[in-house]
Amino acid sequence: MATVTFDKATRIYPGSTKPAVDALDIEIADGEFLVLVGPSGCGKSTSLRMLAGLEDVNGGAIRIGDRDVTHLPPKDRDIAMVFQNYALYPHMTVADNMGFALKIAGVNKAEIRKKVEEAAKILDLTEYLDRKPKALSGGQRQRVAMGRAIVREPQVFLMDEPLSNLDAKLRVSTRTQIASLQRRLGITTVYVTHDQVEALTMGDRVAVLKDGLLQQVDTPRNMYDKPANLFVAGFIGSPAMNLVEVPVTDGGVKFGNSVVPVQRDALSATSDKTVTVGVRPEHFDVAGADSDQGVAVTVNVVEELGSDAFVYGTAQIGGEAKDLVVRVGGREVPEKGSTLHVVPRSGETHVFSTSTGARLSD
Ligand SMILES: Nc1ncnc2c1ncn2[C@@H]1O[C@H](COP(=O)(O)OP(=O)(O)OP(=O)(O)O)[C@@H](O)[C@H]1O
Ligand SMILES: [Mg+2]
Repeated sequence: MATVTFDKATRIYPGSTKPAVDALDIEIADGEFLVLVGPSGCGKSTSLRMLAGLEDVNGGAIRIGDRDVTHLPPKDRDIAMVFQNYALYPHMTVADNMGFALKIAGVNKAEIRKKVEEAAKILDLTEYLDRKPKALSGGQRQRVAMGRAIVREPQVFLMDEPLSNLDAKLRVSTRTQIASLQRRLGITTVYVTHDQVEALTMGDRVAVLKDGLLQQVDTPRNMYDKPANLFVAGFIGSPAMNLVEVPVTDGGVKFGNSVVPVQRDALSATSDKTVTVGVRPEHFDVAGADSDQGVAVTVNVVEELGSDAFVYGTAQIGGEAKDLVVRVGGREVPEKGSTLHVVPRSGETHVFSTSTGARLSD
């Protein structure tokens, strides 16, 4: 068991001038489940491969526990990796697939059998040990790939989009299995996904990357409640947070007829004429038609989900038509074409600098 430290770790691919991963700084606690998330090309796999030793580190350092592993070959790092294409050996049984790394390492047969059987029990694969991979479902194959990593009893698990070959329903059940398995084994894990829902549901903490730069590393709750900047605000949450550019007036911020509180210091720190106000779809209250607060939203589309519904509409804010998404109760669904008065709930609004993207509100 061990901590993992990215200490200003940088990767610049040959022939490129821009780092794919730029001075990445994260300290991962012993036993923690850390999820790296971000859009395609942001540097998630590169970060993981640097930790695995599959990619050179051009600046900074990487440590596992108190060992500096920056320039150690992969085999000396005591890690096990589960990839998206877990590529099981088709001609070997499940048991042989799971024990292969131990066999290469020269572990004796009885010992291998014991470790494979233990892992199979944990993963509910006991009855499949003598089958070939082609006789397994996608989810079972995925568990064999996990089993291969588990039998090695590494200090750190690395997983790069291990669920992306599974269908939507299986992904949801398997992600719960992986998260609970990780908690049971207590092995420090770095998990890569581009899916923010997967990130929030699985991680003890989540690190958001964009263009090789770490945007925020935080618990799922803090990430959702206090996104550090406009990018994180728009990336985490589905449907996305409503982000509306509004003028700054007299040191205050107006969202339609509602005043959004923001500390004076924060506003005076920016010379911007406008700021961006963020409100999540579930943080609007529906007001009476005669309300002089908030904004009037013309309903364009309603997406019913049973328990609740998302209203996609248009509102006039600061003299411009803006698209807004509002979550309403499943039994209070407005008609298409009607008008809905909504007020951003106090304490649930976010204010960002439009020019730098930095969070200005508390
Ligand atoms: N071997 C390579 N040589 C040169 N550039 C590379 C190489 N591998 C990746 N890159 C570039 O580095 C950047 C980061 O790539 P990386 O694979 O880490 O992204 P990612 O976040 O894992 O994306 P995805 O979600 O699509 O898997 C991208 O711009 C990519 O084009
Ligand atoms: Mg990748």
